[in-house]
Amino acid sequence: MRAKTDFLVIGSGIAGLGFALKAAEAGKVMVMTKVRSDETNTKYAQGGIAAVTYSPDSIEKHIADTLDAGAGCCDERIVRMVITEGIERVNELIAWGARFDRKNDGTFDLAREGGHTESRILHARDSTGAEIERTLLEQVEQHPNITVYQHLFAVDLITQHHFGVEVSRGMPGLRCYGAYVLDTNTGEVGLVASRVVLIATGGAGQLYRVTTNPLIATGDGIAMVDRAQGHLADMEFIQFHPTALYKPGHNPAFLISEAVRGAGAVLRNREGHDFVLEEDQRGSLAPRDIVARAIDHELSRSGAECVYLDCSAIRPETFTTHFPAILSRCRSLGIDPLHEPIPVAPAAHYLCGGIGVDDNGYTGIEGVYAAGECTRTGLHGANRLASNSLLEAAVYAHRAAEHASAHLPSPFDSDSIPVWNSQGTRIPREQILISQTRRELQSLMSAYVGIVRSDDRLRRANERVRMLLSET
Ligand code: FAD
Ligand code: SIN
Repeated sequence: MRAKTDFLVIGSGIAGLGFALKAAEAGKVMVMTKVRSDETNTKYAQGGIAAVTYSPDSIEKHIADTLDAGAGCCDERIVRMVITEGIERVNELIAWGARFDRKNDGTFDLAREGGHTESRILHARDSTGAEIERTLLEQVEQHPNITVYQHLFAVDLITQHHFGVEVSRGMPGLRCYGAYVLDTNTGEVGLVASRVVLIATGGAGQLYRVTTNPLIATGDGIAMVDRAQGHLADMEFIQFHPTALYKPGHNPAFLISEAVRGAGAVLRNREGHDFVLEEDQRGSLAPRDIVARAIDHELSRSGAECVYLDCSAIRPETFTTHFPAILSRCRSLGIDPLHEPIPVAPAAHYLCGGIGVDDNGYTGIEGVYAAGECTRTGLHGANRLASNSLLEAAVYAHRAAEHASAHLPSPFDSDSIPVWNSQGTRIPREQILISQTRRELQSLMSAYVGIVRSDDRLRRANERVRMLLSET
């Protein structure tokens, strides 16, 4: 493949598709995704999208909750911007066709999640992400300026480096000309020349042994920006979701939404004790890092492998109508949440750090923007407030599209871009070595960059990753 476009979007989740719909007003857009277009973290989002809709909720309360969850590491200016502008982006999703649950009187049926002092989560039962993904894909498919390519795997950003020029981090004039892409059906590496590239490749949960993230979440875009000499930040701020269904060997681990705790479910140890209350008076609805650490302590103390989510305070009709997907998955595994507690344990869930971007999603490499979970914007700090991720992705997709459309880099001669140089790469003769490296990586990340982190653990992880890198 040798293609050319105005905007190349890598990733078909909320960030990529949201950007594509806006950028398509300014030029031709090519969206690429390494598997099927709907196979994204976005599709699996359960709880919903946080936004202020009615009083007594207010923007100030949502800001205060976000700052509190972020453990002093949020950028307050960005928090204010995202929460204020997010309301317009949620309305836009609704205008595009997203159907969020409403009560009989037509007002939104708002849910509550950990760390939120108000019920402010718009949701579509417990499959909010699938509803958003459906809406965006339908809009994108109808747009004459957007083409979606599936099974195209972005390998590297094309910069001056590929023309034989030495590049360095922060180098003035560092510019991107598109991306080298692997067609996974043919095994050929081609290239897409583009004036603007949006990285919207999502998170990296698959670096862990147990994660809620689907198999696509391997941090590719973050690695590409790093190799292109862009800037990464806060990469140690990995968020663990407290309540993934405990089923060893299942990848991904199935999430039991925090909204279930918002509806009244309580975490208990095997003796039936509400142990989270000892750590925080908000109990099971404290922010995620606090609840995940409380479970971690409890598991270390008791030697157990899971704790239990007691859903008995939720009326069976409420559980059935609000959480049909969770009910169905649990029952398919022989657990009936209407009659017994759900065994749960924490799982790697969300990457708060990532590609460093400014207010418009600009990465500092001319022509390269990033949005969504692959970025570090300053919104989440050390711990993301529940349901702020879809919101952030929608806001930054919009801002990046507006900025990129208004500041298109100058055209260049796409014919002069060299073809992919495969020197130094090889087809592995023993696939087992790659699987083993992956397992080692997952193991060391789980041990040293886990729920509890320290400088010593991070240093150890760094040394081991470098060793693995030297072996590949
Ligand atoms: P994604 O939706 O993950 O999309 C990434 C895209 O990039 C995919 O299309 C993928 O194929 C593509 N890609 C990756 N690498 C390459 C490559 N090398 N080449 C080509 N394509 C590539 N957040 C909330 O706010 N509320 C929730 O209720 C919520 N629930 C969640 C539940 C679960 C189970 C999970 C896993 C996450 C949840 N989150 C939630 C987090 C949220 O879903 C994600 O942060 C968000 O959807 C990320 O969107 P994105 O567009 O950045 O990336
Ligand atoms: C959940 O439904 O618990 C996930 C919400 C989130 O990750 O924001």
